Amino acid sequence: MGALGITIALLVWVVTLMLISIWKQIHSSWNLPPGPFPLPIIGNLLQLDVKNIPQSFTKLAKRYGPVFTLYLGSRRTVVLHGYKAVKEVLLTHKNEFSGRGEIPAIEEYKDKGIIFNNGPTWKDVRRFSLSVLRDYGMGKQGNEARIQREAQFLLEELRKTQGQPFDPTFLIGGAPFNVIADILFHRRFDYKDKTCLRLMHLFNEDFYLLSTPWLQLYNNFSQYLRYMPGSHRKVIKNVSEIKAYTLERAKENLQSLDIDCPRDVTDCLLAEMEKEKRSGKPPVYTMENISVTLADLFFAGTETTSTTLRYGLLILMKYPEIEEKLHEEIDRVIGPTRIPAVKDRLEMPYMDAVVHEIQRFINLVPSNLPHEATQDTMLQGYLIPKGTVIIPTLDSLLYDSQEFPDPEQFKPEHFLNENGKFKYSDYFKAFSAGKRVCVGEGLARMELFLLLTAILQHFNLKSLVEPKDIDLKPIAIGFGCIPPPFKLCVIPRSQV
Ligand code: HEM
Repeated sequence: MGALGITIALLVWVVTLMLISIWKQIHSSWNLPPGPFPLPIIGNLLQLDVKNIPQSFTKLAKRYGPVFTLYLGSRRTVVLHGYKAVKEVLLTHKNEFSGRGEIPAIEEYKDKGIIFNNGPTWKDVRRFSLSVLRDYGMGKQGNEARIQREAQFLLEELRKTQGQPFDPTFLIGGAPFNVIADILFHRRFDYKDKTCLRLMHLFNEDFYLLSTPWLQLYNNFSQYLRYMPGSHRKVIKNVSEIKAYTLERAKENLQSLDIDCPRDVTDCLLAEMEKEKRSGKPPVYTMENISVTLADLFFAGTETTSTTLRYGLLILMKYPEIEEKLHEEIDRVIGPTRIPAVKDRLEMPYMDAVVHEIQRFINLVPSNLPHEATQDTMLQGYLIPKGTVIIPTLDSLLYDSQEFPDPEQFKPEHFLNENGKFKYSDYFKAFSAGKRVCVGEGLARMELFLLLTAILQHFNLKSLVEPKDIDLKPIAIGFGCIPPPFKLCVIPRSQV
């Protein structure tokens, strides 16, 4: 056969493959929600702006409605947009859509731990971790006391800046880092400690990179891009280094473990492993599973709260009149010296509203984490096959213009009634809802309130640029919305 023959044979082969692929997609989408026509291999890539996929979802929802089908590469995906559809998926069909969609850059954690676990151990590990976190959160040495103690260290560190400009990323981040480190490992780190700074750097870099256009491409086309150079390799390396750290902690704890007297969450997980060994049950709590569980809680427990606090400070510098009202409320309810407590929240509707509005406005995890259908399920008359990736978007609730008029504007009034009291909104789903709802919601809310209140009780924020020139737009939108880098000064209020 000559060169022409080979070329023709190849062409026929490629065209046949393409036809089969198109046919398969059409065939399997017969009773799926509507959506744009997918091309072979790239699916609906052309309909997406990889710099802002959440915005592309919003545009597609305008065209196809609140429930639509997309092919992210070859992955069949159903996107939910708006209160009714998102709630239906997360709460009405909570079991059917409680699987976890794959995130290839974090393959090392796949089907282990909590966040990226789509396997049989997820339910057990999640339930057990929740109950242990609850135990450590309660009582005299519970989360309130833990955060209050850390707040004092944070204030001390802020005083050391002596009114000079600093980057808040790792200074502010040190507080949530230490709170979760205490729960997980019974440890606290100096804010300049090398290990602490290294781990925070890894968390921060991963959260940023996972939100960049390249990682959006990688996570949908990993089969083609896996061996290419690119920042996905950095994410994969970082994820590995984080797990190596938590594995080291687990091994260290194991040396001195007393299963009747656990010192921290690591001990509780190890005690479960020891009990399991004695019972002869199939293992759930292996060292591998334990180290990924710890890594999940460490990363999620630090980076989310840290980014929210940092973004919050930037927002408050843009709106000094809001900062002023917060100072006034803090002075009235707490005064200049007493450590803020959880009970103060009831008397501080303005602070409560500002914290909620920060979370709404920054829209930290805009498209939620991907879920997966665990079985064939009927949804609004459509049949969603088992294995379909499900995206219950959170920004579609947080930016709903009926519930939050002028959603693009930062307005604490979104959470205040006409009498200045806190106004609850069921659209506030920054932590998602249902079976996969954030495990750290209670802890994060407490940290945001106590730490922000403590900072503003003692300091005035000072921007290096005119408030009107502060740009609040995120620098990357993907897995998360990443705030722009900035520096600020904090001026002790006693000096003002
Ligand atoms: C501002 C702070 C936080 C925000 C906005 C946030 C948001 C979220 C969101 C949107 C999810 C995905 C839920 C879903 O798949 O439906 C999630 C899951 C999770 N979060 Fe958080 N989170 C925060 C803080 C924390 C903290 C402090 C911890 C740890 C103590 C934590 C641990 C987790 C874990 C383990 C999951 C996985 C749950 C599962 O897959 O079953 N998060 N979070």
